[in-house]
Amino acid sequence: MSDAVIKLINVRRFYLVGDFVVKALDGVTLTINKGSFTAIMGPSGSGKSTIMNLIGCLDTATSGYIEIDGELTNDLNESELAFIRNQKIGFVFQQFNLLGRLNALENVMTPMVYANYSSRERRDRAEEMLIKVGLKDRMKHLPNELSGGQKQRVAIARALVNNPAILLADEPTGALDSKTGDQIMTLFESLNDEGKTIVFVTHDRALGMRCKEQVYIHDGRIADQDVFRKF
Ligand SMILES: Nc1ncnc2c1ncn2[C@@H]1O[C@H](COP(=O)(O)OP(=O)(O)O)[C@@H](O)[C@H]1O
Ligand SMILES: [Mg+2]
Repeated sequence: MSDAVIKLINVRRFYLVGDFVVKALDGVTLTINKGSFTAIMGPSGSGKSTIMNLIGCLDTATSGYIEIDGELTNDLNESELAFIRNQKIGFVFQQFNLLGRLNALENVMTPMVYANYSSRERRDRAEEMLIKVGLKDRMKHLPNELSGGQKQRVAIARALVNNPAILLADEPTGALDSKTGDQIMTLFESLNDEGKTIVFVTHDRALGMRCKEQVYIHDGRIADQDVFRKF
C-alpha cells in the first residue's frame, strides 16, 4: 500500500555564509510511506540532518514543497509548525537532548504540556512509555544517573508519548558503543513492527542495512546506491 506520510518535492535548503552559498540540499524529491522504516545514509556533511530538520519542522526550506501527514508545511506560521512538531513528529537526537534537572518521568511528560490531559493522565501515559522502552525501574532517575543507552531510551519514550505519525532519529546510536547501539536499533525495529513510521539517519552501514529501505544522499542530493557500494 503506498500511503505517503512524508513528501518532499524538489526541496532546496541553501545557507548564505559570508558571500558564499552552501547548498545543504539541492533539489531533493522523496516520498516516505506510512509504516516504513527508512535509513538515510551518506557521509558527514551530505545533508542528512538538514533533511531531518525540514521533515521535523525545525527548519524551513529555501524552495520546494514539504508535505507532512497530508499537510503542506510551506505556508504555515511558527505556531502552526510548532503544533505539527508536537503532534505529528517524535524526534530522537544523537546527544539525547534531555533536560538535566528533570527525572526520566518528567522528561517524558514534557511534550504533553499542550495536550488536553489531566496531570494524572500525563503521568500514566509517561509511565506506560517508559515501561515500553524497558525503564520501569529508572523513572525517578536524573539523566546524569543513567547510562547512554538508558538516556536514549528516555528520549525515545519522550518522542513517542504524543503518539506521533512519524518518528525521526538523527544518528540515535552515534554516541553509543556498538552493543548498546544494537539494542537501541532493536527497540526501533520493534516500534516499526508495531506500525510506527521511522526515518533513521546513520552513517553506520550495518545499521542502515537493518532498515527496510535505504536512501543515499551525497552533496545535498539523492544519490544512486552504486555510489555507496565502494564505502
Ligand atoms: N546553519 C548552517 N549554516 C551554514 N551551513 C550549514 C548550516 N547547517 C548545515 N550547514 C552545511 O550544510 C551541509 C549539510 O549539513 P548537515 O545536514 O548537517 O549534514 P550531515 O547531517 O549529513 O552531516 C554541510 O556542508 C554543512 O556544513
Ligand atoms: Mg548530521
